[in-house]
Amino acid sequence: MKRVLLIVSGGIAAFKALELIRLLRKAGLSVVCATTENAEQFVTPLSLQALSENKVYGALFSLTDESEMGHIQLSRSADLLVVVPATANILAKMAAGIADDLASTVLLATDKPVLVAPAMNVRMWLHPATQANMKTLAGRGVHIVGPDEGAMACNEFGPGRMAEPPAILAAISALLEPPVRPLLGRHVLVTSGPTHEPIDPVRYIANRSSGRQGHAIAAALVRLGARVTLVSGPVGVPDPAGADVVRVESAREMLDACQAALPADAAVFAAAVADWRVANATDSKIKKQPGAAAPALELVPNPDILATIAAAGPRRPQIVVGFAAETDDLLANAQSKLIRKNADFIVANDVSPETGIMGGTENAVHLIGPNGSEEWPRLAKDAVAQRLAERIAAALGQA
Ligand code: C5P
Repeated sequence: MKRVLLIVSGGIAAFKALELIRLLRKAGLSVVCATTENAEQFVTPLSLQALSENKVYGALFSLTDESEMGHIQLSRSADLLVVVPATANILAKMAAGIADDLASTVLLATDKPVLVAPAMNVRMWLHPATQANMKTLAGRGVHIVGPDEGAMACNEFGPGRMAEPPAILAAISALLEPPVRPLLGRHVLVTSGPTHEPIDPVRYIANRSSGRQGHAIAAALVRLGARVTLVSGPVGVPDPAGADVVRVESAREMLDACQAALPADAAVFAAAVADWRVANATDSKIKKQPGAAAPALELVPNPDILATIAAAGPRRPQIVVGFAAETDDLLANAQSKLIRKNADFIVANDVSPETGIMGGTENAVHLIGPNGSEEWPRLAKDAVAQRLAERIAAALGQA
């Protein structure tokens, strides 16, 4: 049975915690309550205990009495911590890392997911201090449900009403359900970032690429359970957690690393590979000579990594996805790329400077596949990655 540690803080909405406990018990979850001192002004420990059928850890429970359940154990023995209601005060303490009572100590000591249901006066909610605290907490991965907008106990109207117990139950269920991992046991190869093609040891030519989209795809595939090999050119974005990252510089190194990573069930080529490299790259720095002509660069084509890996053969991944970054004739170019490179899908995006996509955090793409093309709405690159990972999982499931 999954365990929820319900932290009840002192707000007028605390009475709704009772209804929530009833719903959680009905959903087959075990509930243990911990209260702040103020909470006991709004809801009695006796009613929390009666509904949860468990001991209530009140504000006066000794933090040092390890013969009882210690606060570390209390915070770790639960699967999820839920703060209902979350007052401006407890949210501020969480953001600042203050631990001056049982509830705040448990919240600081936990290694479990935390969900908060804020409830407060509209002005307190809109205050920059509270908004900054919410941003900090969200940035640390704290989950938030509500607040709703509506009439409040203090006769004001606006955001600050605590989410209703059924909505809090839905948020809790979503966090406790085991993640769907359709790519468990699958290996996926992803390329990301630019390649650097040396001119000499200090200079290079390259395409523009932040690596954001490719790295987000690797992260999304990991979340769906895949073992991911990410072959990345030089980028400034952090490595996605859980992926095996192989760092390369040039297109030829990228191709070698991709071939070494095979076999793979699927491959996504999101790297902006330089089409050409310098034929006459030198081992020592080209010196600027006063009055001398600028050096001429002779370019030779790089191997096409996508086309090489996607070519029919025993080592071809079942699903191969390419990218088409275009400024003109987006769909026609992407369609012909699908065929020319023998890919199963092409993610086509318009990278004209006015779109702000290049280097930005959003992307607007079309997915071109065996059944034609579909337009996706403008989404965060993470959301594009999530959708693409789900499509890859679906395609592998059918293959
Ligand atoms: O031909 P173009 O560069 O527009 O094709 C883009 C797609 O091909 C991308 O998926 C890119 O990662 C891949 N590509 C590659 N190797 C190259 C050039 C492009 O893998 N040398």
